Amino acid sequence: MNAKSVFYVIFSIIGLYLFGQFLARDTGQPNVEFLPEMVYSPAYSAFAENPNFSDGKTLQLPPEGSIPLGFLPEYPDGELTAENAGEVLHSPLINEEIDRNRGAFIYATFCQICHGFNGDGDGPVTKRGVPPPPSLKTEKVRKMRDGDLYFLISRGVGNMPGYDIQIKRSDRWQVVEFLKTLN
Ligand code: HEC
Repeated sequence: MNAKSVFYVIFSIIGLYLFGQFLARDTGQPNVEFLPEMVYSPAYSAFAENPNFSDGKTLQLPPEGSIPLGFLPEYPDGELTAENAGEVLHSPLINEEIDRNRGAFIYATFCQICHGFNGDGDGPVTKRGVPPPPSLKTEKVRKMRDGDLYFLISRGVGNMPGYDIQIKRSDRWQVVEFLKTLN
């Protein structure tokens, strides 16, 4: 065997060995990684102790005074009352934004069940033992300002629940507009 053949044999053995290693590799493990940086940050489960925070908790409270997206208060807490609502709250809807169909849809979805199809206070629940609400076509309702109606819809009154959670702001203003069409 000359030197060249010996070289080929050794080279083939090394090659086969490396190929075997390649086939037998654990594919569940990451390959050799160069500078993985922050790819594998340590994860803490929500209720686990956490040495990175001074109170030792993983779940941190939002900073004091922070407001969840979409929950900006309409008016500073406690300053808005049924008495001043008509004065301080004004519809943000400009004329082009007033959408009677949307208002009618919100009314049909949330109000009609008690107040009735035409606002006469004869909705289906009144036939089943719920005391009927007053008509929405009265002088009293006509005289209510936008802000008064909006406040009433948002916070409720007497037997009527508040709808600030179920109906988003712009839709509450739309239904205020719709109420005017009932009269
Ligand atoms: C669960 C039944 C019910 C639903 C649903 C309901 N209301 Fe009422 N509503 C009432 C009752 C009852 C009153 C009278 C409350 C009182 O003065 O004690 C009332 C009062 C009102 C008044 C004032 C009327 C007045 O003469 O003082 C308005 C305006 C009004 N509701 C609008 C709405 C709108 C708009 C919706 C839908 C977003 C709605 N209501 C949903 C039961 C309901």
